[in-house]
Amino acid sequence: MNKVTKLISTALCLILLFTSVLPINIGAVSEDDFYVENIEKNKGVYLSPGADDTEIRVTWYGGKDDVDPIVKVSENENMTNSVSFTGTIHSNEKVERSNHVTVTGLEKGKTYYYVCCDGTNDTEVKSFKTVADGEDFSAMYVSDIHLTGESYDDPTLYQSAKNWENALVEATGRENISLILSGGDQATEGQPHEYYATFLPETLKSIPFAMAIGNHDVKRFTYDALANYPNTKTNNISKSLIHGDYYFVKGNALFLVLDSTNSSAADHYKFVKDAINENPDVKWRIMMFHHDLYGGHIESRESENKLLRALFTPIIDKFQIDLVLTGHSHRFSRSHVIYKGEITENLCDKTSVTDPEGTIYLNNGTLRVDPDSENQDIIDSDLKSEFIATDYISETKGIYNILTFTDDSLTIKSYTYGTEKPFTEFTINKTSQQGGHPDKPIQAWFVVGKYLGTVYNIINNISRKSEIRDRG
Ligand SMILES: [Fe+2]
Ligand SMILES: [Fe+2]
Repeated sequence: MNKVTKLISTALCLILLFTSVLPINIGAVSEDDFYVENIEKNKGVYLSPGADDTEIRVTWYGGKDDVDPIVKVSENENMTNSVSFTGTIHSNEKVERSNHVTVTGLEKGKTYYYVCCDGTNDTEVKSFKTVADGEDFSAMYVSDIHLTGESYDDPTLYQSAKNWENALVEATGRENISLILSGGDQATEGQPHEYYATFLPETLKSIPFAMAIGNHDVKRFTYDALANYPNTKTNNISKSLIHGDYYFVKGNALFLVLDSTNSSAADHYKFVKDAINENPDVKWRIMMFHHDLYGGHIESRESENKLLRALFTPIIDKFQIDLVLTGHSHRFSRSHVIYKGEITENLCDKTSVTDPEGTIYLNNGTLRVDPDSENQDIIDSDLKSEFIATDYISETKGIYNILTFTDDSLTIKSYTYGTEKPFTEFTINKTSQQGGHPDKPIQAWFVVGKYLGTVYNIINNISRKSEIRDRG
């Protein structure tokens, strides 16, 4: 495609941005008082990553007026010699009070205990562990967990919360997980009770939880008051409507979390460039955002996908991203090695690659499934695009992945919930910091082309804002 055609097609595709298809419905079970009891007890506490392993962030609901949120941290379970960290209060039309506290000065490779204080009852003592220097670590990757329900006492909400909790318990039972990554669509309608259910599981009170924003999360402003992440980008030409890009370092990996509902490629480019300049020697570069670029499973979304590939892949190629984590299509897929929109290494029937000349794209399925569906699971379907090495489609089983990072390897094990062995496993090996990534300048058309997405985002934010207000 020549430069002019590419620019025109990009502009035309912009109007087709960000359509959504509702996910599959699930069955429902109920449990009396489930939420009331838990709301009183744990206040929706969740941990999130700090800038690196010397920090952690704590977020929870509620508190007494005029009392600052405080997290007390101790090396002892009885909380002796605790150190206090004071945070800030965040609120908007959907969230009355969300407390955000950043705990700093942590030693790597240590267990800490903490309580949250806000002028009402303190939370129960919980613990977390930091990753030691040079230590291998594992992260769970999930997307489209889709907490769903009309109110706190809707049995459907309880069921989706149980699906989520079950997956967390199973994954953390398999490996020593130090990080939970969620690629967007946490809350189907973006409602406060859906996020409350998202933060309910005990696992999120001891392992940091990093979320990307999905098209369902941007239905309301709730997420904006609840997301508590480091290194957020603030000097945008066109900022995200809700929250925005952020990054953090865990062990020897840099995690770049992008808002793919923001089409401003110029801003994403600057964000990634700055993050990498700040962390040039971190071995693994992982990017996470919501939209599935290469899966090809949903024909009606291919116009949007073409646009998103035009906006995001030049950044991924230029900055030598090893692995891109996405979701949205509710279809699992893992790609071949891709660089500049071409397959540089076919990975069919391979279980590893060393120094790949490009990027691998891993798209998760969903936890929003119907165990009673009569549709059979399909592996290596005919529906995947030519860019995909393997896929898995299931309407009955939730899907998640465990990524294990060592200094020279990144292993991805992909599981369906409730099965003993991964349905697929793949390892990326790197023999140097750069690995096999080509070191070439940004594609020429993108120098100007990235601003098309920015202009569109400025316009789109106006209409999106009004749609959210109308939704209430
Ligand atoms: Fe989704
Ligand atoms: Fe989505």
